[in-house]
Amino acid sequence: MSGNNAHEKVEKNVGLMAILIAVVVSFGGLAEIVPLMYQAEAIEPLPGVEPYRPLELAGRDVYVREGCYNCHSQMVRTLRFESERYGHYSLAGESVYDRPFQWGSKRTGPDLARVGGRYSDEWHRVHLTNPRDVVPESNMPAYPWLARRALDREQIVRRMRALQRLGDPYTDEDIASAPEALVGKTELDAMVAYLQGLGRHAPKEGGATQ
Ligand code: HEC
Repeated sequence: MSGNNAHEKVEKNVGLMAILIAVVVSFGGLAEIVPLMYQAEAIEPLPGVEPYRPLELAGRDVYVREGCYNCHSQMVRTLRFESERYGHYSLAGESVYDRPFQWGSKRTGPDLARVGGRYSDEWHRVHLTNPRDVVPESNMPAYPWLARRALDREQIVRRMRALQRLGDPYTDEDIASAPEALVGKTELDAMVAYLQGLGRHAPKEGGATQ
C-alpha cells in the first residue's frame, strides 16, 4: 500500500524525519504565538502607561549595558507568593514600550518590576555605588563609575527618533526638548530615575491567582 510506503520512507530517512518533526512542532508554536500578536491585551498599553521619559530611557540603556538583567528579572509571575512579595503580577500591557523587554527569569537578586518607590533615591545611589553600604550581606557588584559618567545628550535624540519610528507616541517636541532633561545628569541619576519608574503603572489591587 502506498500509505505504508510513505511512512516507511520517513522512518528510514532521519534527515527527512527531522524536517517533518520541525514542521509539526512549529504548528504548536504558531498556534500559540501568532494570535498574541493581534491581541489588544498584549500589544496595547495599559491605561496610563506612557513611553519612557528621556532620563528614564537613558537609565534603561545603562541598565541593559551593565547587564543588570543577568541577575534581575522584571516579571512578577501569577503565583500568590510572588504577588505577596512583589505586588500585582506583571501584565503584557505594561511592557509595550520596552524594547527589548527585560522580563527574564534569572533571579540572583530580587525581581525589579515593582521596585519603583520602594526605596528613596538616596538609598539607590548608595546601593548602586556600593551595595554593601546598605545591605551588608549583598553580593551584588558595585557600579561606582555611574556617578562619574555624564549622559550623551545627542544619543537620546537618536534613540527617541528610532522609537518614534517604531510607533512609540513621542511628539517632535518631546524629542526636541529631551537633551534639556539630561543637562548636568549622570548615568547614576538616569539609573535611579529608571528604577523609580518601574511598576509605576502596575494595577494596585489583588493580583494573586493561585
Ligand atoms: C551578580 C548579580 C547582580 C547583578 C549583576 C546586579 N544585581 Fe542588583 N541585586 C543583586 C542581589 C543579590 C540583590 C539583593 C541584595 C541587595 O539588595 O543588594 C540585589 C538587589 C538589587 C536592588 C534592590 C531590590 C529590592 O527589592 O530590594 C536593586 C534596585 C538592584 N539590585 C538593582 C540593580 C541594578 C540597577 C543592576 C545593574 C547596574 C544590578 N542590580 C545588578 C544581585 C545583582
